[in-house]
Amino acid sequence: MSETSSIAAGIQAGEKYYGLKLREFWRLSLENPEAFWSEIADNIVWFEKWDKVLEWNPPFARWFVGGVLNASYNALDANLKKGLKNKVAIFWEGEEGATRSLTYYQLWKEVNKFANVLKKLGVKRGDRVTIYLPMIPELIIAMHACARIGAIHSVVFSGFSAMALADRINDAEAKVLVTADGMYRRGKVISLKSTADEAVNQAKSIEKIIVVKRAGMADVPMTNGRDYWWDELMKEAEPYCEPEPMQSTDPLFILYTSGTTGKPKGVVHSTGGYLVWAWASLKWAFDLQPDDIWWCTADLGWITGHSYIGYGPFLHGLTQIMYDGAPDYPAPDRWWEIIERYGVTAFYTAPTAIRMFMKLGDEWVRKHDLSTLRILGSVGEPINPEAWKWFHGVVGGGRCPVIDTYWQTETGGFVITPAAGIELVPLKPGSATFPLPGIHVEIVNDNGEPAKPFERGYLIILAPWPGMFMTLWRDPERYKEIYWSRFKPNEKLDFKIKPPAIYFTGDYAMKDDEGYIWMLGRVDDVIKVAGHRIGTAELESAFIGHPAVAEAAAVGKPHPIKGEAIVSFIVLKSGYEPSEDLKKDLVAWIRKTIGPVATPDELYFVSTLPKTRSGKIMRRVLKAVVAGGTLGDISTLEDATSVEEAKKAVEMLRKAMEEGGS
Ligand code: WT7
Repeated sequence: MSETSSIAAGIQAGEKYYGLKLREFWRLSLENPEAFWSEIADNIVWFEKWDKVLEWNPPFARWFVGGVLNASYNALDANLKKGLKNKVAIFWEGEEGATRSLTYYQLWKEVNKFANVLKKLGVKRGDRVTIYLPMIPELIIAMHACARIGAIHSVVFSGFSAMALADRINDAEAKVLVTADGMYRRGKVISLKSTADEAVNQAKSIEKIIVVKRAGMADVPMTNGRDYWWDELMKEAEPYCEPEPMQSTDPLFILYTSGTTGKPKGVVHSTGGYLVWAWASLKWAFDLQPDDIWWCTADLGWITGHSYIGYGPFLHGLTQIMYDGAPDYPAPDRWWEIIERYGVTAFYTAPTAIRMFMKLGDEWVRKHDLSTLRILGSVGEPINPEAWKWFHGVVGGGRCPVIDTYWQTETGGFVITPAAGIELVPLKPGSATFPLPGIHVEIVNDNGEPAKPFERGYLIILAPWPGMFMTLWRDPERYKEIYWSRFKPNEKLDFKIKPPAIYFTGDYAMKDDEGYIWMLGRVDDVIKVAGHRIGTAELESAFIGHPAVAEAAAVGKPHPIKGEAIVSFIVLKSGYEPSEDLKKDLVAWIRKTIGPVATPDELYFVSTLPKTRSGKIMRRVLKAVVAGGTLGDISTLEDATSVEEAKKAVEMLRKAMEEGGS
């Protein structure tokens, strides 16, 4: 580590606030990654040490090469050895009022048994298991059981439809599906098994289905020889399963996320690098202590649930809350009541929820004593300063720092966030502040050169980090193309880990005059609905699957609570007439094909869609029209579309919307 390094001087963060300790961490992590990451990686348990910290063949990184470990061992056995056997790992609460708690020992026993169940059903190292469950402990047990035997889990959010589930099973070629009879939402019971059956009819790789009894549903259809009840299998299971020694670079899981094409992307995470990142990022951002009570309100169907419910908290031997239900059911103080009752100290949620509660009124929060809270967090989309201030003032009583964590499914864990566990910088409502150690970001203009302060640019990452995904499942070409080809290295960029390669996040960002980073939304055609990523292409191809639809376009519209809402434009096939019934049918179709998360808020029938000369849908025009605002920078429309042409398209569309109605 040379004293004369230009890194400290060139550090992208503000000279004034990027404190010495944080700066030193950042400098070491990029200047001498071998030494830095060797030390950090020692915080998890390895059966065999790695030979090489990083093997970087852009854009493929292999971390801790030669290292051997097991994720379930790290999450559970390691804690039993540390004396945490009787510590509560999970306080679980169901919407209907049921409660359960599992100590580390109890969780470990369940995971061992279920690992043996999977083995007995023929699941082997490297096989894929799809998990389609609500937020119950069995979801975590199933994930860890897979990890224990070296099977790759693919968790599919329980709000996804049968078709979406079938697509994800087929892509992963999963052998076993774990699901439940049903789930509770807003007091109703929703069947999951029947959806799972519908999916499996179109997903032939599934040999066995394991069904948890969650909702006590009667008459659950069970197919002999294929379907098994979870508790019956568990009764017979052997108590101990030796954890499989896994290579650091063996995949731990696949998680599907939306992109710019109709096909969801299977993001593949490694075992070693991912666990090191889950451990380090949680520690650095939230500074959690042994007696903290952690509550991350995400669903395990998303990456936030994987990293900060499924793995991270267990690696730190923490106690966490797991809640299966709607946030405001039966009353708008459900969450606050839970925080008070368990004495939650660290609370991590999403801007969409914060905005919803803000609207429901302060009195619901003030009814409860939330004085145990000491740190708050936010994730999923940019948090607007009003929501930030409300969260800080009303929920946090003005005492708790708000840790705005910017990251993605692909990054495995936080990348830009205040690092309360290293050194807390002064916060600015709406800014995720600075990158964590190991994260070398830059904001660049169209030519890939650093943008000036306050200039909106593209957020890129210039060096591999342990939590980065390894590839897209069975599609390395798409991995290269989507993430690593937009920007080429140039001499204005200071690469600290060579050979140089540039990861494109797909997000707009800017730095202020003190180097603070402000995230400014997606560059691509991805809509963020309540923090969930919905690809416009996925929506459009779903619409086109309906017999009445000739063409479709979907865009996001600013929404006061959800951040963005979906607005869709439909051109009907000849022989079909616009009608309210057809509109309802199309909305139902989307709920069925993708899931309720993708429900459009508005739907317009139009006779044609505005397109460029080369036939690309002019999304910016559509967006401007639905936002009701001006056309903005329409003159920079790709594809040499003239301003006149765009204006004409807007007029046409406005007229069509008036005629077609919403
Ligand atoms: C996209 C990733 C990361 C877990 C949840 C979402 C947006 C996420 C923030 C934030 C501004 C944010 C970005 C990113 N995003 N967190 N704190 N500030 N934007 O994971 O579904 O993979 O979505 O969410 O646009 O690219 P995801």
